[in-house]
Parts: sequence; C-alpha cells; structure tokens
Amino acid sequence: MTNSVIQPADIREVAVIGLGLMGSGIAELIVRSGRRVVAIEINQTFLDQGMARLRASLDKAVSRGKLTDAARDEILARIRPTDDIPAGVAGADLVIEAIPERMELKRTLFAQLDEACRADTILATNTSSLSITEIAGATRYPPRVAGLHFFNPAPVMKLVEVISTVLTSAETAETLTLLTRDLRKTPVQVSDRAGFIVNALLLPYLNHAVRLLETAQATREDIDKAAHVGLGLPMGPLTLLDLIGLDTSLAVLEVLQAEFGGTRYAPAPLLRKLCDARLFGRKSGRGFYDYRHSTPAAAADHDLAAAPLPAEVAVIREPDGLLDDLASDITAVGVSVVPQPSPETGLVIVAADPKHRVLDAALTVGHPADAIGIHFIDADDGKRGLAELVLPDVTAAGTAGKATALAARLGLAAVTSRDRPGFLTEALAYAQFNDAVRMFQDGYASPADIDTAMMLGCGYPRGPLQMLDDAGPAHVVSVLEAMHAATGDQAFTPVPLLAEYASAGSRFRS
Ligand code: 3HC
Repeated sequence: MTNSVIQPADIREVAVIGLGLMGSGIAELIVRSGRRVVAIEINQTFLDQGMARLRASLDKAVSRGKLTDAARDEILARIRPTDDIPAGVAGADLVIEAIPERMELKRTLFAQLDEACRADTILATNTSSLSITEIAGATRYPPRVAGLHFFNPAPVMKLVEVISTVLTSAETAETLTLLTRDLRKTPVQVSDRAGFIVNALLLPYLNHAVRLLETAQATREDIDKAAHVGLGLPMGPLTLLDLIGLDTSLAVLEVLQAEFGGTRYAPAPLLRKLCDARLFGRKSGRGFYDYRHSTPAAAADHDLAAAPLPAEVAVIREPDGLLDDLASDITAVGVSVVPQPSPETGLVIVAADPKHRVLDAALTVGHPADAIGIHFIDADDGKRGLAELVLPDVTAAGTAGKATALAARLGLAAVTSRDRPGFLTEALAYAQFNDAVRMFQDGYASPADIDTAMMLGCGYPRGPLQMLDDAGPAHVVSVLEAMHAATGDQAFTPVPLLAEYASAGSRFRS
C-alpha cells in the first residue's frame, strides 16, 4: 500500500459482499455512481435473491420516471454477480462487506480477503456495531481496514459513518471520506466504539419504545404517532424497528449491552420474543405490524373516536392560561364547559405536566374516575402538534373513549398514554437526549456531529441536541428526574454534563 490517498476517481471497481437488505442497497448506490460492482453472495440462491432486490429497486426508479430503461440496462451491465469470493475480489479497488453480524463469519471473510485482494485494496465493513478492530485483527495489514456504515434505505439516507480503528491509516480514512462525498453522501468520521454515533443513540430509543409497548403505556400506533407527530420523526420507533429488522436490532443491542451495560441496552423481552418467533419485521412479513394484510388499526381508532361526546366537560384551567384555548374550542363544538366538576360532568380535563402525576391533580378537583390530563406538544410552527391524553390507572373505562371522541371532534392529533412521567413523547425523546449528552461528555463526538448524524442517518428534522436546547436543558433535567424517581431506573438519571448545562443555563448548540 502506498502512502498517498487514493482518489475517488481511482476507485473504479467495488466488490460488495453480502446482498441482503443493506448490501443490495449499497451495491445499487455504488453502481449508479458509474463504477463497476462485483456483487458477491455465498451461493446462487442468495445471489439470485439479492440481484432480484436490486433489479426491483431499479425498476421502481424507472416506473417513477427517475431512470430510463436504457440507463437501467446500462447500470445492470456494470454489475458482475458471482458466488466465487476470491475471483470476485481479485480486481477490486475497494471491498465493502455487508454479511450477517457474526464476528466469526466476518473474521473468516477478512482473512480470506487478505489473501485474495491486491495489497492496495481497501477493505471496509458495513457492520452495525461489531468491533472493527477485532475484524481488522484477522488481516495481516490492518491499516487498510475501516468501517463504512450506511443507513437503511442505503440509496436514500444521506449519512455514512467512516470509522477508523487505532490501526486504520489516515489515508484509508481519507479515501473513504472522499468517496462518500463522491457518492453524494455526507461522511462523519468517528473512532471504533460499539454502535458508533447513530446506532448507539437510535437502538436504546427503539428499545425504550418496545418497553413502553410491553408495559402497556400505550398502543403501538400511539407510540409511533407520538414520535412521528410529536417529534416530527419520519417514522415511529416500532415501524422503524420493522424496517431495520428486529433480528438486526437485537444483535446491535446485545453488542451495546456488552460494551456499556445498563438497562438502556438490555433488550426488551418482547423484542427477543418476536425474534424467537421469527417475526423480524418487513422482511419476514410480520413484526410489530403485519405486512401481509392491510392493518386493522385505523378501524379500531375510528371506533373509539365514534364514542358519544359528553354533554358537559369541566376544564380545570391553570393560572398561566394553559387550557383557555381548549375550553373555547370545546364550547365551539357545542359541549358546555364548566370550571369545576358537578355530578353531571362527564369528563374532567386537567393540564398534564410531564413532571407530575395527573392523578394528583385529578384527586385535588375530585372525580378522579372521570379525569384525564391533556398535554400539548407544539409543532415547529408553534401550533398545537399533538395532544397527549393522559389516563391515571383509576380512570373509569369509558373516560378514554369520551376524551378520544372529543379530541377527534376538535380535530386534534391525539394519543393516549398511561400516567407515567414524561408520558410518551418526552419520555422517548428526553432519554435519548440524555444518551446524546453522555456521548458528547465521553468525548466521542461533538454536538454538531451528533446532530448531523441523526438528521442525515435517521431523517430527524433537528438533531437531538438542538431539540434538547429548544426544550430547555432545565426542563429536560426535571422530566428525567421525575422518570428516574417513578421507575427507579438509573438510566434516566440526567448525566452530569446535562445537569451542569441546566444549572448554568448553557446550550449545546449555539
Ligand atoms: N430503496 C430506494 N429508495 C427508497 C426506498 C428504498 N428501500 N424507500 C424509499 N425510497 C425512496 C422513494 O423512492 C422516494 O424517492 P423520491 O423522493 O425520489 O420519489 C423517497 O425515498 C421517499 O420515499 P417515500 O415517499 O416512499 O416515503 P417517505 O417519504 O416516508 O420516506 C424513508 C421513506 C426515507 C424510509 C423515511 O421514512 C425515513 O427517513 N425513515 C427513517 C429511516 C431511518 O431511520 N433509517 C436508519 C435506520 S438505522 C440503520 O439503518 C443502521 C443499521 O445499522 C441498523
């Protein structure tokens, strides 16, 4: 290997090994950049499946008018499928490995590549979380080994994490960074640590969502809606788990747990059970959702929303006027609003604060069985984005229906949550913000890189640290402390740096 940086134009042939969900996407991306691709699988069946997936994706681009028939044929002609690994990689300038996440398989493959590739071929792994240092240890020349981590769907998501081990040469990292830009993606350079930036932040958040589901905090649809509407994320966590694959997600969590320990990374039992049942998500036809039929969820929502409206609602207004607008809106739909509940009152609405139990407010005004809390999450334009309807466990069975019917009549996007601190949206988001601050506190990545990675890797509208600043570090700390007090889970304790920023009134992004 020479000491100079190989330029993207000199990377003309790329071997992609493993044509699963990620590998076929990576192969498509690279071949569409004008390069030759050797598409490699271990047997003809897997090769045929991978090539079919790639062809289907190109056909979709043709049907959407993004590609002509001739361009598709020319792209396909630049792909050489093979199940012969040594012959396939012999002429490659770069190899990208995307085989299953098993260390022994990767080490065996890299030892084989070490023998079969030219001395100047760069060897990259798309591993989601395994130690790249350990993979590189299977080769005689680890300076040419690095991580090149793409995001699903690879042709769409703009981020690529370029990961260096302590032995990766600066030239290898620079070449991969330049290549990433040449592929019209944005590179973020990091060192080799479990989960890198994105998976170390994304997977505990997804795991948290599974815990909320299995502890009956909310329905799967409401958990997804809280993240999608409340946080503005492109998809909810359970839908995203189905996209990534539950088996892949479980494997990443196990690596994170082995490296960092603690409850954030301990896989939720439900995730493991679904994997045991081979319900891996979209790729197997079923995961949290069923992709074999249209979902019955919409009908269930409709039933609740169709419950009769209460004739009289008590809205317990706060001195800061929190529910004043809501009271006017309710009056406008013909339901009478009173300031204190009477025996005729069908529903008692209190302002819900994610730091406190709604139950306490409900007990103060009486009628706890008819009481719900309401918490608004503002959209980016300052309008009401999402209404969280918070139900203490003592609430009567029909109260949720009345509240949902009223929310539907008012045209509110609403979710229903049990009365636990943080409810849905803030519980999911703030725990992740805490993880993001810990990552910065550890010196692993800068706030700017963390935010860029989550925006470009997962489609976040703003990065987690920007969102934290916008919510206010002091508010985030107090909600996390309430979550910790209610659950006893140390994972929710605000990390020292977050507590410091909250005390000092500092911001992570300025
Ligand atoms: N392959 C190629 N193109 C695809 C695609 C796929 N599988 N899925 C969607 N697209 C394209 C569509 O063709 C469309 O292109 P166009 O705008 O040029 O017409 C564009 O993406 C948008 O697609 P849709 O309109 O169908 O759907 P959405 O607007 O809802 O976007 C999404 C779909 C891009 C998947 C979006 O929901 C999203 O960003 N989701 C978050 C995904 C995410 O977080 N990924 C990271 C997972 S973590 C990971 O991969 C790491 C691993 O190690 C675990």
